[in-house]
Amino acid sequence: MSRDSGRLLAPSILSADFAALAASVRAVAPYSGLLHVDVMDGHFVPNITLGPPVVACLKRATDLPLDCHLMIESPDRYLGDFARAGAACLSVHQEACPHLHRTLQRIREEGMRPGVALNPATPVASLDEVLGELDFVLVMSVNPGFGGQRFIPAALEKVRRLRAAREARGLSFAIEVDGGVSAETLPSLLEAGADWLVAGSALFGAADPAAEAARLSGMLHG
Ligand code: DX5
Ligand code: ZN
Repeated sequence: MSRDSGRLLAPSILSADFAALAASVRAVAPYSGLLHVDVMDGHFVPNITLGPPVVACLKRATDLPLDCHLMIESPDRYLGDFARAGAACLSVHQEACPHLHRTLQRIREEGMRPGVALNPATPVASLDEVLGELDFVLVMSVNPGFGGQRFIPAALEKVRRLRAAREARGLSFAIEVDGGVSAETLPSLLEAGADWLVAGSALFGAADPAAEAARLSGMLHG
């Protein structure tokens, strides 16, 4: 199986109409491999979004695996809640987890796929000791908290480093990129080695989200 076959488009509902989530998800689902769900607590990041009850509703509304990105302090307190709500993939922030190894083990014990998100200022090397515990690494290519921000090009080098580390150590974690992903930034991300591409405003801010999802998906698999 080629590495390309692991590429997935992951629409981020952050930029969707929260009063019409099911319809928004249905429009882009045929072109997507994951649904990215941003959880913000107003402490780790300035914004507040949603929690496990909304995740449970999304689980009933779509067959897409739910990729929950926790931008919250003390995520350990909520791991069971997200598992019961139906999260398939769960990422915590490196910067929010003093006992990251234990947190990752608990995510797996709860039956979810563990991932770690890195803020733009956090180096890839900070994951050296836990890379073997991970199903995916989420490289933030904006500062977390809001959709529609400008892509930070330094993320490309982090993707390359992760790809090199994965190869050197014979690991198989996926490399996810989140923030400012669009038809413009996608080619350089794919060349650097990104596998899972999160897109919020590029999809849900488009006049025709389904058509834009089809276009981005075509670039991923073309
Ligand atoms: C930002 C979130 C992203 C956000 C990306 O903190 O983690 O998932 O939805 O939005 P865009 O694609 O608009 O940069
Ligand atoms: Zn996100």
